[in-house]
Amino acid sequence: MVRAAVLPAVGAPLEITGIELPAPGPGQVRVRLAAAGVCHSDLSLSNGTMRLPVPAVLGHEGAGTVVSAGEGVTHVAPGDGVVLNWAPSCGRCHHCSIGEVWLCADALTGAGRVHAVTEDGTELHPGLNVAAFAEETVVPANCVLPVPDGVPLTDAALLGCAVLTGYGAVHHCAQVREGESVVVFGVGGVGLATLQSARIAGAAAVIAVDISPEKEELARRAGATEYVVASDLTAKEIRRLTDGRGADVAIECVGRAATIRTAWDSTRRGGRTTVVGIGGKDQQVMFNALELFHWGRTLSGCVYGNSNPAEDLPVLAEHIRAGRLDLGALVTERIGIEGIPAAFDTMLAGRGGRALVVF
Ligand code: APR
Ligand code: ZN
Ligand code: ZN
Repeated sequence: MVRAAVLPAVGAPLEITGIELPAPGPGQVRVRLAAAGVCHSDLSLSNGTMRLPVPAVLGHEGAGTVVSAGEGVTHVAPGDGVVLNWAPSCGRCHHCSIGEVWLCADALTGAGRVHAVTEDGTELHPGLNVAAFAEETVVPANCVLPVPDGVPLTDAALLGCAVLTGYGAVHHCAQVREGESVVVFGVGGVGLATLQSARIAGAAAVIAVDISPEKEELARRAGATEYVVASDLTAKEIRRLTDGRGADVAIECVGRAATIRTAWDSTRRGGRTTVVGIGGKDQQVMFNALELFHWGRTLSGCVYGNSNPAEDLPVLAEHIRAGRLDLGALVTERIGIEGIPAAFDTMLAGRGGRALVVF
């Protein structure tokens, strides 16, 4: 038995309970978690904004140590530190074959498998594949990547979602160039990683926008050169801060129609908007045909930072070792597994950066 945070049903509170994991089968790995970040997507799964099979063990941003490996696993061995990758790629589908591994057709098929059982025999699914809100987990081998040298295991948890996503949003999706102006909407864990990545890209102006005035210090520590408290005048304020033109790039890390629309409005003619936030189907964004022509802007989605984790982790490690990427600066709270429901409440109230469960 290991302790885990289980979502019994959509809309129900999380239960911290004992679960029984099977021994790793062929091609699977058992991992003892060192740490797991509490991401807004876990909250979105619990309240039904995003849907996956339940009951489930949540948690998708984690790192730990390999305890045992099933037959045929060769890239990691017991004792190795690993980052959990919630979006594994099969290497065979159309998207994998053209190098778009983040869009792998099979990425979430594993979410339907039976992952563990509770004491009373209830079968549990693995949330976003990796079920990281637990002392231990059993995952397919392509859901683990070796922790790069020089990265502490607890910090490495953040690489698995916030950092790959934020870094990828800047480098792969928006392709920020040196000297550009970048505005980031939403200063949570993902937004903070995005701000740091904009700084790494050499952006001249990095503007953070959040509905909460409390996030200014966190945002500035992550590289924001300006801080704007969101209001009806946000787009106007951003134009004022960018020579009246609007930012070259906007990155939305909230997942709401209104912030997506404001992000787009905040860019210059020809500007790029990347949407990282994940919203529900009720979040309808409207554009009129004439403004699409007039402004000549682009709007793009972004899945897991459009990253290839196996290629990007060594690059991120280099930035960490050089002191350009500070994983510790994302974490505002270290909690035990029983602290996850309260961390959801903190997130809903728009406070804090990343809460990190330390096992
Ligand atoms: N305008 C600006 N900021 C807002 C607004 C708004 N209208 N509404 C909420 N925010 C801010 C919150 O105050 C908070 O600081 O957005 C931030 C979101 O941060 P978190 O809740 O910590 O979320 P995070 O884990 O960073 O994820 C951000 O990316 O992967 C997706 O599903 C995830 O949609 C979520 C987004
Ligand atoms: Zn996440
Ligand atoms: Zn694939």
